Amino acid sequence: MTHIPPTTVNWCSNPVSGAGVGLRAPHYHYIEQQQPDIPWFEVLIDNYLVAGGEALQYLARIRENYPVTFHGVGMSLGSTDPLNMTYLKNLRDMIRRYEPVQISDHLAWVSTGQTYLHELLPLPYTEEAIRHVSTRIQQVQDFLGQRILVENVSSYMQFQDSACTEWEFLIEVIQHADCDLLLDINNIHVSAVNHRFCAKDYLDAIPASRVREMHLAGYEDHGTHLLDSHSRPVHAPVWELYQQALTQFGPVPTLIEWDQDIPAFNVLEQEARCAQDIYDTFLDQAYEPPAGHTTAATVSRL
Ligand SMILES: [Fe+2]
Repeated sequence: MTHIPPTTVNWCSNPVSGAGVGLRAPHYHYIEQQQPDIPWFEVLIDNYLVAGGEALQYLARIRENYPVTFHGVGMSLGSTDPLNMTYLKNLRDMIRRYEPVQISDHLAWVSTGQTYLHELLPLPYTEEAIRHVSTRIQQVQDFLGQRILVENVSSYMQFQDSACTEWEFLIEVIQHADCDLLLDINNIHVSAVNHRFCAKDYLDAIPASRVREMHLAGYEDHGTHLLDSHSRPVHAPVWELYQQALTQFGPVPTLIEWDQDIPAFNVLEQEARCAQDIYDTFLDQAYEPPAGHTTAATVSRL
């Protein structure tokens, strides 16, 4: 991929704060024309790693008016495949050109034998996996020249070899890799129901100093399990968990994700407004970390 470097583009330099929305193709025209009152957009960067086309043109024009973050699904951080250096070079080109405020991908594997599976698959929660994925995150950060955020995924199965909880695994990885955390509140709820653990225990364990972004989305209830479909409004238990997260972590930039059955933009705006209203109450309260909250310095090793 060859991108022409920017000449004198003045990208919007606002930081990301408040409740943003995922940038999706059906909304390009509306956003460009109407410039809705949304504080930031998250760009699903895998859709833009091409040498040209309409999507990149829209991205450039929207970027002039809004801060953006880059969110990827292609690093395959947990895979045993070699890191995909072509992907990372293309990503680095895009970072240099569009100057996202932060970059994230998932604590998962999406490829094996260099074949991409189009699923975010969980890892076994073992010391070997911690070492493996932490090393790869460090290599990615070294290559990109900046910290990244890793996101907890939802899951429907667990490995018998796992020796700790998901949140203990997550904490160990971010400590070892020295990276930051994108905490998906919906994913915590979905996995808590599917695997019968307490979502509040999960949140309680997370080091507040590492949480740089949160995701909210809607799931489907299939009776036997919840499916992380990103096809619905945010459900009540997730809103409730979001309030606990804000109590614990303070006002962290929050994103509404919606990837299937994408509705009109005003539906996303409404969801973002709900998140913003909750977020604003924590801004007004002049957030102070609760006494005894877990910090990066007090997390124990496995
Ligand atoms: Fe997410």
